[in-house]
Amino acid sequence: MSSSSAKTRYGAGQGRPAKSSIRTMTATPAQPAPEQKKARHSLVGKAVAEAIKNGASNVDLALLPRLRDLGPLNITENVLAINSLCPNPRQEFVFDKLVTHLHDFTREVSLTTEEWMLAIEFLTATGKICSDIRQEFILLSDILGLSCLVDSMNHPSMPPATEGTVLGPFFTQDAADLKAGESIASEGKGEYMWCEGRVLDTQGNPVPNCTIETWETDDEGLYDTQYEGRTVADCRGRLKSDANGYYSYRAVLPTPYPIPNDRPVGRLLKTLNRHVFRPAHLHMMLVAEGYETLITALYFKGDQFLESDAVFGVKSSLVVEPKLVTDETKAKALGFKHGPYWHLKKDYVLLTLEQADEQKRKSLRNYYSSMK
Ligand SMILES: [Fe+2]
Repeated sequence: MSSSSAKTRYGAGQGRPAKSSIRTMTATPAQPAPEQKKARHSLVGKAVAEAIKNGASNVDLALLPRLRDLGPLNITENVLAINSLCPNPRQEFVFDKLVTHLHDFTREVSLTTEEWMLAIEFLTATGKICSDIRQEFILLSDILGLSCLVDSMNHPSMPPATEGTVLGPFFTQDAADLKAGESIASEGKGEYMWCEGRVLDTQGNPVPNCTIETWETDDEGLYDTQYEGRTVADCRGRLKSDANGYYSYRAVLPTPYPIPNDRPVGRLLKTLNRHVFRPAHLHMMLVAEGYETLITALYFKGDQFLESDAVFGVKSSLVVEPKLVTDETKAKALGFKHGPYWHLKKDYVLLTLEQADEQKRKSLRNYYSSMK
């Protein structure tokens, strides 16, 4: 491309506009002179012309910064400048921060080409094994502490509401709908556990018709999705709280398990000399109209991994201690084939949407004032 044609494409004589001036021009885009328009279209081949015709870009090139001769000292400001044409202020803000921190990180660690390529290959491998029932990116987010951070920022709790925790990578949409007292686990999946309690608001009133999704490992420390040839959901179920907010179901006592360690994230943990174990837990997701969705999990007292959870999910208020019941008659009355069984009684307290919003604002205010 000749220097004269480059001038035509990027706005002859304008140079790179200041960021604030780009915003101004975005609001009231300047119309290119007819000869500029003609010149621009004469420069593009069929592929570019086709893309423009299909709406790939309606950006006026004359408004763009001159992106040339970029390097460590000026790449960041120029990427921010070109992103400033974004019509969505929140998206622009997030991308500004993403680019700024990413570039600062790259400069700070003097990222080598080999390391950059290693990261690309890692992310590629991570994406390739994702499927409807395997979410390696959530797992990556989990082990980086990002899931815990996002969850705690967006769902700060306040007593007596139940605290939330990470969703984890094993939630699926295909759990069976169950009636009260039915089992989420097929026979032979572990030691019996009877789960019951109420769903309440912060005033102690029942929350009826709350959808409760629950999922767990079996006694091998495996989720159903980790078995070859899975055809139906197991150790997971969906039920509703009744008019008094009461729920009940049969389950099995979950066991500690390693997060999947045969793929990219597991291999990464190995290089960091981190263990891959999670303490045993029972996942819960509670959805009720007018209330903030609660994603949480219960952990079990005495578990050796409570204080070193590979995905940082444990909170003290979520640690429970089910009681062993040896009475055969009681076991059979609840639908178990025999005794004993573990009795896990747990109430869940939900925040209304208004309470959750207020709590989030308060929490963020506290966070930012602590940063000053
Ligand atoms: Fe889990």
